[in-house]
Amino acid sequence: MKGILLAGGSGTRLLPLTQTLSKQLLPVYNKPLIYYPLSTLMLAGIREILIISTPRDLPMIERLLGDGSQIGLSLHYAVQEKPNGIAEAFTIGADFLQGEPVCLVLGDNIFHSHELPHLLARATNRKEGASVLACRVSNPSAYGVVELDATGKPIRLVEKPAKPASNWAVTGLYFYDGQVHDIARSLRPSQRGELEITDINQIYLERGQLNIEFMGRGAAWFDAGTFDSLLGASQYVHMLEVRQGLMIGLPEEIAWRMNYISTDDVRATAKAMRNNPLGNYLLGLLDEPRAHA
Ligand code: DAU
Repeated sequence: MKGILLAGGSGTRLLPLTQTLSKQLLPVYNKPLIYYPLSTLMLAGIREILIISTPRDLPMIERLLGDGSQIGLSLHYAVQEKPNGIAEAFTIGADFLQGEPVCLVLGDNIFHSHELPHLLARATNRKEGASVLACRVSNPSAYGVVELDATGKPIRLVEKPAKPASNWAVTGLYFYDGQVHDIARSLRPSQRGELEITDINQIYLERGQLNIEFMGRGAAWFDAGTFDSLLGASQYVHMLEVRQGLMIGLPEEIAWRMNYISTDDVRATAKAMRNNPLGNYLLGLLDEPRAHA
């Protein structure tokens, strides 16, 4: 399965922070925001990834992540000229994807949960249809929302409903089989002028092929697209990292634990980050067994 990390958009909700800088490069405590969704794709075992961003921001993102070989990935880059909607990712990525199944992650989405590797494995192993993760939130109107019938069966998806039918938001992590390419090509812009990811999910739902994984109440999900959620995500990462002594969303660590890079590779990266908490952390890891922590 290939991956797409969508890191464009206008970022107007974060002005003036995004006046000169990509939203996805803003810090979430000690790492750029984009590290977290990239880590999610890595945890799903996806190594060939297309990063899509604006003409202004793509060169900066490429400067940060390069060709990905330093973390055992193959990274590709493509421009989205205008924020025409999330679903445009599949037409921009058509040459890269070659009709294959794909996992799309939004560049401002942060996931952290002990059940995540398990959910990711279930979604990537499913051969047919689509899978999305839903998370309970207190402000569903800000998201795509799952409407459920009396038995708890999903019957409809609505993008940013004024009167949400449930508290279950569809998160920005989507898994699709090869049908997504034809579906994406058939979409028309919504009333707000965007090619909506929710329309793609609704089509899968109508075909009886949408699998919704409901995240448990211990799971953390942030859409770091507002001042409050950006700060909330930083506070969460800070609190957990200080408490546990383990970092969240550090691609070098994940690459090492997944055997994509060697201990010598990590040592070299850590050396380049001397006198820095991330570099010291990476060096400290090497004293422990590589098994997943
Ligand atoms: O975060 C989950 C939510 O993401 C879902 O619940 C919604 O169904 C989905 O529409 C989306 O809603 P948002 O309002 O958060 O979407 P936003 O416009 O903020 O875009 C999400 C990310 O995708 C953001 O990092 C910018 C990027 N993006 C967005 C658009 C519309 C692009 O790169 N290009 C685009 O054209």
